[in-house]
Amino acid sequence: MSILLICNNKDPYPWASALQEELPNEQIEIYPDVTEVKEVEFILCWKASPGVFDQFPNLKAVQSLGASVSHILDHQKLAEHIQIARIVDERLSEDMWEFILAVIMAHMKKLGAYQQMEAKMNWTPLPYKSIGDIRISFLGLGKIGAYVALNFSQMGFKVSGWSRSKKELKGIKSFEGENGLDSMLMKTDILVNLLPHTNETQSLLNASKLELLPKDAFLINVGRGETLVEEDLLSLLDTGQLSGAYLDVFQKEPLPASHPFWNHPKIRVSPHIASITNIASASKQIVENFRRLKSGAALLNCVSPQQGY
Ligand code: NDP
Ligand code: OXD
Repeated sequence: MSILLICNNKDPYPWASALQEELPNEQIEIYPDVTEVKEVEFILCWKASPGVFDQFPNLKAVQSLGASVSHILDHQKLAEHIQIARIVDERLSEDMWEFILAVIMAHMKKLGAYQQMEAKMNWTPLPYKSIGDIRISFLGLGKIGAYVALNFSQMGFKVSGWSRSKKELKGIKSFEGENGLDSMLMKTDILVNLLPHTNETQSLLNASKLELLPKDAFLINVGRGETLVEEDLLSLLDTGQLSGAYLDVFQKEPLPASHPFWNHPKIRVSPHIASITNIASASKQIVENFRRLKSGAALLNCVSPQQGY
């Protein structure tokens, strides 16, 4: 039985050494260097090329090296008996909270505008918002979304969230269903997307939904690029309906050089770094999952392929 790392856009070597330290007697290989395809029972992956798992006839479990599994479910055909697990880690939630906090405070206090003005030696005070003025709404109140939403609520922001199932979270107004989404959007100053990419969330943020946001609302997308209809965002920024957007995830990554987001004055972009999986803490649950696989137990943090997350 061997463990195989298959990664695109993520360096597999630090993962291999962290895991080898915990599992000194196990064979851990990095694709495409595979000694015996029949021995591969546990794949750890990030954005593996489509169909690449087909060559491993004895595969039993696939572990995402991040919180999301859409990179697996969208591109690999997996037999029903194969367990699919993802990373659930406090570090991911904490780092996401810090990132969104930084973006929201910079937006409220107009730090981006001052940076541009400084370059032109322009001394013009601008109006700014305070915490009590702002209604933040989260799309997705899962492991990460709920943690981040609760932290904002504790700081004094007015916080709402939308999820498939209704939530009881202190200080958070919980919405569900299509009508719930529409009602929430109408009362939102800053919308944060923390949804996974699934068939249902694909293109959810299109013109008809974004138009429900009050004038001057701001969008933060740290969930998945596929949820946002990029042209619709551009139109709403150009008409002045939305005041701006901070985007960390995109339909195509890396963001192509010719993409209009790069130079848009109302859009800030970052290269999918809002919260990066911490190798030391995530390795522990991967090792635990490997041990569970060996002993025939169910893996931790498994997803439902039917649900898509
Ligand atoms: P979870 O699976 O814990 O939570 C997903 C949430 O989305 C749940 O609240 C779920 O509702 C809700 N949801 C899913 N589908 C729908 C739907 N159709 N309608 C309404 N709500 C829906 O995921 P995490 O919180 O761990 O992670 C969320 C996402 O954040 C990841 O999938 C990934 O895309 C992104 N991410 C981005 C990172 C970055 O660096 N940019 C880093 C880490 C994650 P319910 O609770 O009812 O099931
Ligand atoms: C993840 C991510 O899903 O980095 O973990 O986006």
